[in-house]
Amino acid sequence: MKTEPLTWAQAHTNIALVKYWGKANLELIIPQNSSLSLTLDHFYTQTGVQFDEYLSADQFWLDDQSIPVSSKVKRCLDVVRELAGINQFAKVVSYNHVPNSAGLASSASAFAALATAASRAAGLHLDGKQLSRIARRGSGSSTRSIFGGFVEWHGGNSDATSYAEPIQDPVTMDIKMITVILNRSQKSISSSNGMQRSVTTSPYYPIWRDQAANDLINIKQAIYSNEFTNVGEIAETNAMRMHSLTLSADPSFTYFNADSLTVMNVVHHLRQNGIECYFTMDAGPNVKILCQSKNEQRIQDELANHFKPQDIVVCNPGPGVKVIRDPRLK
Ligand code: ADP
Ligand code: DP6
Ligand code: CO
Repeated sequence: MKTEPLTWAQAHTNIALVKYWGKANLELIIPQNSSLSLTLDHFYTQTGVQFDEYLSADQFWLDDQSIPVSSKVKRCLDVVRELAGINQFAKVVSYNHVPNSAGLASSASAFAALATAASRAAGLHLDGKQLSRIARRGSGSSTRSIFGGFVEWHGGNSDATSYAEPIQDPVTMDIKMITVILNRSQKSISSSNGMQRSVTTSPYYPIWRDQAANDLINIKQAIYSNEFTNVGEIAETNAMRMHSLTLSADPSFTYFNADSLTVMNVVHHLRQNGIECYFTMDAGPNVKILCQSKNEQRIQDELANHFKPQDIVVCNPGPGVKVIRDPRLK
C-alpha cells in the first residue's frame, strides 16, 4: 500500500483574559471554570501527522529532534484513532514558533495543531467544536486555540459539554497584546502541576472559582459593547487572582521573577501618566500588556528603557487553526 504524505496543520497560541487554573477531571481535562482568551497572530505551531501501518510505535520529532512521545501526545493520537476506527501508529513532526514551556502557551498551539493534523490524517473531517474537544485532551488551553480572535472555553461537566466557541472573530475591538519575553527557558513547575497544587491546597480556591465565573460574564459584556477599559481591568484583576493561588498553595510557589515586577511597575507608571494599558501573566515569568493602537509606540518606548527590542513582541488578534502544506517544502 502506498504511504500517504504527512498532513499538516498550523495553530496559533492564545492568552487567557479570564484564566483556566484547575481541573475538575484530570483524565478528560474538564476545567474547574470556563475561560476566555485572545488568539495571537505572532506565535504558532506547525504539526504534521502520518498514520502508517508499517510503524511499530508512535514517533515524535520536535524542531528536527527525535524525542520520546509524551503521554499527552499519545492520548490525543489515541482519541483520534478511536474516533476513526484505526489502529496504526503515527509519525508526528512539529515545529514551534513559540518558546516551549515558558508560559507563552506552547501547549495551546501544539495540541490544537496536533488534533487538527491527526484527525485529517486519519480521514476525519471534524468541525471546530469537535476539534476543540480532541485538543482539550492534550492541554486545556489548546481547546481555545482551534478558533481565532476572542474565544470562550465552556468548561462543561463531560467530554461532550467541554468545548470552545468563538466569541468575536474577526476581532472588531482595537486591541493589541505586547509580549515581553523575559525568559525563554522551561518553567520548573508545569502548568498541570501548578494548577493541581492550587486546587488541592489553596484555601482561596473556591473563591477564585466564583470570581472567575463573574469575570467571564463581565468580560463578555465588555467585548460585545467594545469597552476596552473594562476588558483590560477584568483581565489584569483576574490574572492577579490566579497568581494569588500559587502564593497561597502549600508548598507555595510563584511564576513571577524580578523582571515580571519591573514590567508591572512600567504598566502602573504608564497608567498614572494617562497611557492606558493592562498586564496579564501566565504560568511563566513573561508578561503580556494589553493596549490600543494609539498607545502602542509609547509603551514600546518605555519598555525599551528596560528590555531589548527583540524581546518586545507586539501581537495582534490571530486566526484559528488551518490545514497547511508541508512547511519544509520551500
Ligand atoms: P506552556 O506555557 O508553553 O504552554 P506547559 O507547562 O503548558 O507550557 O507545557 C507545555 C507542554 O506542551 C509540554 O508537555 C511540552 O512537551 C508540550 N509541547 C510543547 N510544544 C509541543 C509540540 N509542538 N507538540 C507537542 N507537544 C508540545
Ligand atoms: C495560566 O493549558 O497549559 O495559561 O491543561 O495542564 O496542559 P494543561 O495546562 P495549560 O494551562 C494554562 C494555564 C494558563 C491559563 C489559561 O491559558 O487559561
Ligand atoms: Co500550557
